[in-house]
This record gives sequence, structure tokens and C-alpha cells, in this order.
Amino acid sequence: MIGFDSRLFENRTVVVTGAGRGIGAAVAVAFLRCGAEVLVHAGRDLSHVEGDLLARLPAGARPRLTLLTEDLSRPEGGQELAREILARTGTVDVLVNNAGTMGGRVPAGTETREDYDHVLDLNIRSVVALTGALLPALRRSEGASIVNTVSISGRSGGSAGSALYSGAKAFVSAWTKTLAKELAPDGIRVNAVSPGTIMTDFHRRYSSKAKLDATADAIPLKRLGTAEDCAPAYLFLAAGSLSGYVTGQILEVNGGQLMP
Ligand SMILES: NC(=O)c1ccc[n+]([C@@H]2O[C@H](COP(=O)([O-])OP(=O)(O)OC[C@H]3O[C@@H](n4cnc5c(N)ncnc54)[C@H](OP(=O)(O)O)[C@@H]3O)[C@@H](O)[C@H]2O)c1
Repeated sequence: MIGFDSRLFENRTVVVTGAGRGIGAAVAVAFLRCGAEVLVHAGRDLSHVEGDLLARLPAGARPRLTLLTEDLSRPEGGQELAREILARTGTVDVLVNNAGTMGGRVPAGTETREDYDHVLDLNIRSVVALTGALLPALRRSEGASIVNTVSISGRSGGSAGSALYSGAKAFVSAWTKTLAKELAPDGIRVNAVSPGTIMTDFHRRYSSKAKLDATADAIPLKRLGTAEDCAPAYLFLAAGSLSGYVTGQILEVNGGQLMP
């Protein structure tokens, strides 16, 4: 699948959130293929890890994988996940903030306080809290890298009912760039991957087949993306040897759907 060196992340400790399935699982598998020790936050529980993650592990990689769970839509979720991680490692070389979701389509004007809290606590608060709590461990690394998952919808606006989610992803994009400036003196690079329409449980949950067919037809490369299409972008941004002079950037992975 991936033509990266199998030793690219040897002796590097990588944290990936939301990696029990979908994009995060493909990213975690890709890091394991490249030799990393990977702490996987699998989601709220382990119910999805079998098919998307464990079934795809490269031979011999299981001892380098640690599985954690945490509900990151709880206000204290980010802090608690950080405590779990720091109980296992003192140094984090790569942090991939990927956990997130839309939490359902909410028509404009009907948002409840619960909708607002759920979407923003998961997609913003937990990301900021986890990253902040792991900063000492990232500062201990030589050449640490943070890679956030944002979204095409944070740049172009999402489809109907996704305003809170799209706004949250735009927040993380701006936060990524600001953090990149602030952490550059510590040698920590901060970038983001911005997926387009990627065929994971996310769209199985929120989008009809007709909508997805129409989207695929409008994409220059004439197909929806896959989680495996996204994974190499994370490896690139995480590896100092490949992207050591890249920080504060949002890498669009969308088949040409948006050319900013
Ligand atoms: N698919 C796309 O087209 C697309 C496009 C742009 C951006 N994205 C972003 O890409 C990232 C990965 O999405 P995906 O497409 O791979 O979707 P997915 O298959 O639904 O995976 C989402 C991951 O986030 C975790 N997550 C969701 N709610 C959580 C919660 N309350 N607490 C802890 N973990 C939670 C999930 O864990 P559970 O198993 O517990 O649900 C899962 O591991 C998300 O940030 C998403 O917003 C996706």
C-alpha cells in the first residue's frame, strides 16, 4: 500500500486518536508499517478495532501497538486520555489529533445546547486539551510533529446541517497555524491533513448514496477517497526527514474536489 521506508519511524512514539476505524486506523497501520511504537486511541470503546485495525496489522507489529479508549466528547476527555498516555510514555514524537465526527446533521436554527457541547467538545476542546497536556512530552522529543485532521468543509463550508462541525474544523485549522508559530522555537512542527469526501463510516452514517454518487461525479479524479489515500499525507507531515521545513500547513487530500 505505502512506499515509505519500514524504518522511517523506528524508535519513535506516535499517538493517534480516533484510530479504531476509518482514517485513523489506516494512519495507525501506516505508522506501524514504518516501525513506530503506536499508542492508539481506538475511540469510545474497542468495538471497531478488529476489522479496521487489528486485521490489517503488519506481521510482527502487535507488540508495538497499545490500545486506549476514552470518550472525547466529555469535557474532561482530552485530559483523561493524556493521563493514560503519560502513564505509558514520557516522550511523544508524533501526535495525530484525528478523533472527531459531525454528530448528526443539525438544521440551522435548531441547535440545542447539547448539540453545541457535543460537537465542540469532541472536535475542539478535546484536541486543545490533549495537545496542551502532551506538550511537555512533545518538547522532550527531538523534532516532534503534531498533525491534526481538519476537513474540506472547514475551508469551503460543509453541506446542509454540518455548520457546527464545519466551523469546529475551521477553528482547528486556524489553531494549527497559530500553534505552528508558537511552538516553532521548541522545534515542534504543527500541520494538518484536510480530507475531502472519504468513504468511511462517517459518510455511511451521514450521507445518502445519491449524494455520494453526485459528489464522486463532481470530483476531478472521479471517485471518493479512501482512508488509505489519506494515510501517506500524515506520514509525510510527521517525518522530519521528509517535511522538516514544513509547518503551519493544511494539506488537502481530496481528488481535486477543492483547489484553494
Ligand atoms: N470521512 C470523511 O469524508 C472526512 C472528511 C473530512 C474530515 N474527516 C475527519 O476525519 C476524522 C476521522 O473520520 P473518519 O472518516 O475516519 O470517521 P470514522 O470512521 O467515523 O472514525 C472516527 C473516529 O473518531 C472517533 N470518535 C468519534 N466520536 C468520538 C468520541 N465521542 N470519543 C472518542 N472518539 C470518538 C471514533 O471512535 P468510535 O468508534 O468510538 O466512534 C473513530 O475512531 C474525523 O476527525 C473526521 O471529522 C472525515
